[in-house]
Amino acid sequence: MSKPQLLIDTDPGVDDALAILMAHAHADIAGLSIAAGNVGLGHTARNARTLVDLLGTAVPVFAGCASPLVRAPEEDAAFVHGMDGFGDVGFPEPAAPLADEAAALALLRLTRERPGELTLVALAPLTNLALALRLDPSLPQRVKRLVVMGGAVTGHGNTGKVPAEFNIGFDPEAAHVVFEAFPSFELVDWEATLRHAFDDAEFDAWLAAGDRRASFFGQVFRTARAFNAKHDRQGVIAADALAMAVAIDPSIVLRSERRHVAVELDGRLTRGATVVDWAARLGRPPNAQIVLEVDQARFAAMVRRALGAAA
Ligand code: BDR
Ligand code: CA
Repeated sequence: MSKPQLLIDTDPGVDDALAILMAHAHADIAGLSIAAGNVGLGHTARNARTLVDLLGTAVPVFAGCASPLVRAPEEDAAFVHGMDGFGDVGFPEPAAPLADEAAALALLRLTRERPGELTLVALAPLTNLALALRLDPSLPQRVKRLVVMGGAVTGHGNTGKVPAEFNIGFDPEAAHVVFEAFPSFELVDWEATLRHAFDDAEFDAWLAAGDRRASFFGQVFRTARAFNAKHDRQGVIAADALAMAVAIDPSIVLRSERRHVAVELDGRLTRGATVVDWAARLGRPPNAQIVLEVDQARFAAMVRRALGAAA
């Protein structure tokens, strides 16, 4: 079977790092387009280059927008991922270059060069995708699949706007543009992420058995892990890794529902919330395949291999 061909929009970020290790182990990566989100664009772009160095690949890294489309973000996620987004380990300046092309333009070019071949995996605020769509609304026709990590489909979010999840809440207008433009995408939300956390001891065993990818991830993960433990978040939560598992192998999904999903742009307490029309009351065509359950054992096997700890 030929490998999946992925174009990854990302804001590394600890769980982004794990997702990219998975992509490298199980797929071909056509490019990394970088968004601001977890931390500022300077850090996320540099972290992506650090990962490219670690993997010894020549995957191009394209920097994108440094801020959301319309409003300044209300929060970042440095308190989870570390001030530099990679656990403040202090990695040296990476050797991998930053490509001389804006992320949105690279998304358009690469999908024009390979129409229908690339699965777009969105692991960050959707600023770059929205900008690309505004420049060229025919983008969805050239993408094989779009898999988005984002949202909280029953309002159990992870930001200061309680029902909003971070990627959508950071740039709600961008998410609105993307959700309106793509006739069909797969949505892996924060709540699904919590249902698919890994057991801590089991994950530690993978880190111990793995190769340099596992040592790297063990280092960058420390800050996020301490934060989760302090905030009563159980197990190893890896939002972007779950979305990546779905992108790599959609047959891993055991349960999903097709529904219309929209983004709240105005709510005083709810800006950035994903509003799911569960009972199809609005008569709008469903745009999202909402992933509710995946095969946890197969997800685990994909992560183990990405860490070099496969049995
Ligand atoms: C999402 O937000 C970021 O902090 C993570 O990298 C993930 O993409 C989870 O809400
Ligand atoms: Ca992310």
